[in-house]
Amino acid sequence: MHKPVTIVILAAGLGTRMKSRHAKVLHKAGGKTLLQHVVDTARELAPPERIFVVVGHQAEKVRQSVETPGVRFIEQTEQKGTGHAVMIGRDAMAKLDGYLMVLYGDSPLLRVETLRSLIAQETEGDAAGVLMSAHMEDPFGYGRVIRDARGNVLGVVEQKAGTPEQLAIREANMGIYCFRADLFWKHVDEIQPNNPAREYYLTDMPEILNRAGHTVEAMKIDDPAEALGINDRAQLAEVDRIFRDRKRRAVMASGVTLVQPETITIDAAVEIGMDTIVEPFAQILGKTKIGENCRVGACSIVSDSTLADEVEIGAFSIVGTSVLEHGVHAGPYARLRMENHVAAGAHIGNFVELKKTRMGAGAKANHLAYLGDSEIGAKVNIGAGTITCNYDGQKKHRTAIGEGAFVGSNSTLVAPIEIGAGAYIAAGSVITHPVPPDALGVGRARQENKEEWAKKRRRLAKA
Ligand code: UD1
Ligand code: MG
Repeated sequence: MHKPVTIVILAAGLGTRMKSRHAKVLHKAGGKTLLQHVVDTARELAPPERIFVVVGHQAEKVRQSVETPGVRFIEQTEQKGTGHAVMIGRDAMAKLDGYLMVLYGDSPLLRVETLRSLIAQETEGDAAGVLMSAHMEDPFGYGRVIRDARGNVLGVVEQKAGTPEQLAIREANMGIYCFRADLFWKHVDEIQPNNPAREYYLTDMPEILNRAGHTVEAMKIDDPAEALGINDRAQLAEVDRIFRDRKRRAVMASGVTLVQPETITIDAAVEIGMDTIVEPFAQILGKTKIGENCRVGACSIVSDSTLADEVEIGAFSIVGTSVLEHGVHAGPYARLRMENHVAAGAHIGNFVELKKTRMGAGAKANHLAYLGDSEIGAKVNIGAGTITCNYDGQKKHRTAIGEGAFVGSNSTLVAPIEIGAGAYIAAGSVITHPVPPDALGVGRARQENKEEWAKKRRRLAKA
């Protein structure tokens, strides 16, 4: 076991080129904020008390966006450069032994395995630090890695400061480092803001460590895209695309069929069971969990919901913050708006909206209904056009329908209302009083037929 690693994530910058009112690291790709991706990656490598996020712009919002308990924050009130961002964490971090790894909050694509290799190169060799680099066809904007004949790193030269010869170097600094913590903290104060921007550059560290008699190495990664930092919306879209692709591959590798996968969106935290089929253009978002052998129909959107095994969501349905038990059918064109619980085997058909409603096992609402704030018993049948009038203009009220009741088509149930188990509601009723169990509730004008009425009318019209 090598010594532990402390990870500092720089996330104080504003990100001017995003043209946004939100700090850059709060933007989302692959369904998660950029910063949360980096924190999640860091969590694979260090316990939360060894993860530090340097915040500055919108510090409070950025802090609150981090979902991982125990992660620590350092506030950089003025952004005086990458070196400064780490330096100000001295009090909190310098007492932690082992190694110090620097990550950026706006580079969310880095994989855990790549960072493990960086740490391994640092911990297994005797260099004071290892930086991550990559060969780039066009390294414009990046620092260039200057090496000696033996391959050791002499320093990093920033784009603005490089000579033409230095800028011709294609090995770019990815900005990710792993240092020996004791040596880093011993020498970090030697960083000086002696550059046109008057910033403290972390990239001065290799040269400083060399001067003190230590070596610094570079670890070349094959694909510089992995260290891609997001600066604008086009790069954000590109990174989102990469995350979506990674997630789809992972989901397929675990036994899920994606039909035309390139059209499907699945957020990072989503879990899907084996043999489930997801059809084109479906979006499965947030913290959704889907069981085995389910089907998510084309163009459906399922967010923050839990689906047990064998659940079928028909095409063009929307399911939000709901729980669907084993074998539930919903859709096509169903909307389970929020906080619904649909018990095993229930059917929700086309153009049915559910809000804060519990549907009992085997209950059915097959066509055109609105069921809000309702408790619907097992095996209840809700006829087409049934509406729960749950809102009186001021307050929401509840509807309760007992087990096995039958609600005829086009019924209007004015809440608060209770319909007993096994009761019948005549089609077209407006129900304002409770209906006892096993009773028939009728609430509509009695039908009257006027003999010959139509014929007389036609005769009158002719005259
Ligand atoms: C940095 C490197 C450069 C490297 C590039 C890779 C320096 C001086 N240069 O340049 O060699 O090729 O990354 O992407 O380090 N930040 C703070 N506080 C600050 C300044 C920056 O938290 O005071 C954060 C930013 O929010 C950002 C990260 O540090 O997430 C990198 O800063 P940025 O200004 O983008 O550095 P680069 O110019 O990209
Ligand atoms: Mg940058």
